[in-house]
Amino acid sequence: MKREIIITGDGSKTIQIMDWQEQYHSKHGAIQEAYHVFIKSGLDLFKDKEIQILEIGFGTGLNAFITLIEFEKRNLQIKYTGVEAYPVSNEELEQLNYLEELESLSRKDDFDLMHSSPWGQEIEIAKNFSLNKQQKFFKEIDALNTYDLIYFDAFGARVQPELWTVEIFQIMFNAMKSGGYLVTYAAKGSVRRAMLEVGFLVERLPGPPGKREMLRAKKQ
Ligand SMILES: C[S@@+](CC[C@H](N)C(=O)[O-])C[C@H]1O[C@@H](n2cnc3c(N)ncnc32)[C@H](O)[C@@H]1O
Repeated sequence: MKREIIITGDGSKTIQIMDWQEQYHSKHGAIQEAYHVFIKSGLDLFKDKEIQILEIGFGTGLNAFITLIEFEKRNLQIKYTGVEAYPVSNEELEQLNYLEELESLSRKDDFDLMHSSPWGQEIEIAKNFSLNKQQKFFKEIDALNTYDLIYFDAFGARVQPELWTVEIFQIMFNAMKSGGYLVTYAAKGSVRRAMLEVGFLVERLPGPPGKREMLRAKKQ
């Protein structure tokens, strides 16, 4: 499928899949969305502890990189797992502008290591932050009671409805520790109902710019 790099509303770039008219991030602002959905509504629930994060759709690594920038301020130790079936190419990565937009050029080596690190191995990116990228399909995730926080960042249900089902959320529920949270930019009623069906408690929260609402699910 044909892909293009586009500039979003806050100046940060993202990848667009032309045939689907679907982007890796919000057209209103890739960085703004990542901060709102995953940091403000997810990571901010945790302080002063060791946590395991699972990202559904590692993609450009933007969420992982922002988490790396933010984790020390909350005195966290992070084991981050990013699952991705179709890694972004180096040519695409070179065209993204996250280091500049996040004023983090000094962390270029960390960003590059996140992408060059081998799949299937836990690598220390910085002190107290390790990354384990796993190249596989979401439906192959078989972890149990492992994650404190899930960043659920799949393409939308309009283009990949099979990723917003009871089957997938059951896998997420099983993978999560009791007391853990899943955050996603999505707010559709059918998604909320699938989450409720597997046993999550689900909250509607204000969405990032351009979206009225988003969802946060908790495993009691
Ligand atoms: C919305 S994008 C993720 C954006 C990413 N979080 C980022 O910050 O760049 C969704 C990602 O899911 C991946 N993907 C799509 N279907 C998948 C599947 N069935 N299993 C694993 N990865 C999949 C895509 O390749 C894409 O990288």
